[in-house]
Amino acid sequence: MVSNPYALPKAELHLHIEGTFEPELIFAMAERNRVTLPYPSVDALRRAYEFTDLQSFLDLYYAAMNVLRTERDFAEVAEAYFARAREQGVVHAEIFFDPQAHTARGIPFETVIDGLWSAVRESERRHGITTKLIMCFLRDQSAESAMATLEAALPFGERIVAVGLDSAEVGHPPAKFRRVFERALAQGWKTVAHAGEEGPPAYVWEALDVLKVSRVDHGVRSLEDPALIARLREERMPLTVCPLSNVKLRVFDTLRDHSLPRMLDEDLVATINSDDPAYFGGYVGDNFAAVAEALALPPSALVRLARNSFEASFIDESTRSAYLARLDAAAATEV
Ligand code: ADE
Ligand code: ZN
Repeated sequence: MVSNPYALPKAELHLHIEGTFEPELIFAMAERNRVTLPYPSVDALRRAYEFTDLQSFLDLYYAAMNVLRTERDFAEVAEAYFARAREQGVVHAEIFFDPQAHTARGIPFETVIDGLWSAVRESERRHGITTKLIMCFLRDQSAESAMATLEAALPFGERIVAVGLDSAEVGHPPAKFRRVFERALAQGWKTVAHAGEEGPPAYVWEALDVLKVSRVDHGVRSLEDPALIARLREERMPLTVCPLSNVKLRVFDTLRDHSLPRMLDEDLVATINSDDPAYFGGYVGDNFAAVAEALALPPSALVRLARNSFEASFIDESTRSAYLARLDAAAATEV
């Protein structure tokens, strides 16, 4: 049975491409684009990665992406992610991007999506990683802004598999975006939403009932509500859990306190993901390795988590079967 978590083929389903922006690349692009950063060096920037909650992270996350200006910039960030993802055992990625964080700075929607899309195609060719894009709305912006973003995306509809909801959760319940998500569903896109990261279980209920999500991003606070646990189990609703993120953003004090083992005991479809790996201390294989160690998870649990990632992904059935067969073959080898 495989005991090296990096060797397990896996899908990554909760990954913000702007959260893969490593400090060295931030500085290189700032220089190229003649943008002045509020930090004197790469080390000084990295030392600022001490977060007290989600908002303290988001402040830095949005500040860093100010250096992204051209199609080439977006392509390079994504290419750097794919090269790392391959080393982490990722064979399929479903990637969030935050168009409003760029269009609000005057960057055309097209520049963002064309840059990402060229990297997606290149990665499929070079690394064999299949990818889908998920366009997120910033929930601390207005529903009108989200609707305008949806309209800007329509000409690129084929490149997008789903819409999502991210940014500051508390005070911005899913129902605020009811009409936008109805429109997205009518357009043929799937829906997902961050819910129950810092926000209460009521936001997870709303994401299910109002936004009709196919997956819940994070969802860790669902465990506070027994009726919600039963619903998630009965519907086999996937949760895209991000363990290192949860510790960095103080959702849990340490990895040993993480509720992942309870999720598995409750028979929930939990998956492991990296969220914003450049900021949270590890990519997806690192997350697998860290939980295996801190929570003493046996190899069979890691295989189950990888299996869940394919079962929860938006790939077609023949690709899913092929990936599951690859996982079974890898799981059967001694590594
Ligand atoms: N945007 C990037 N990472 C996020 C997270 N963990 N929660 C909400 N919004 C985000
Ligand atoms: Zn996230």
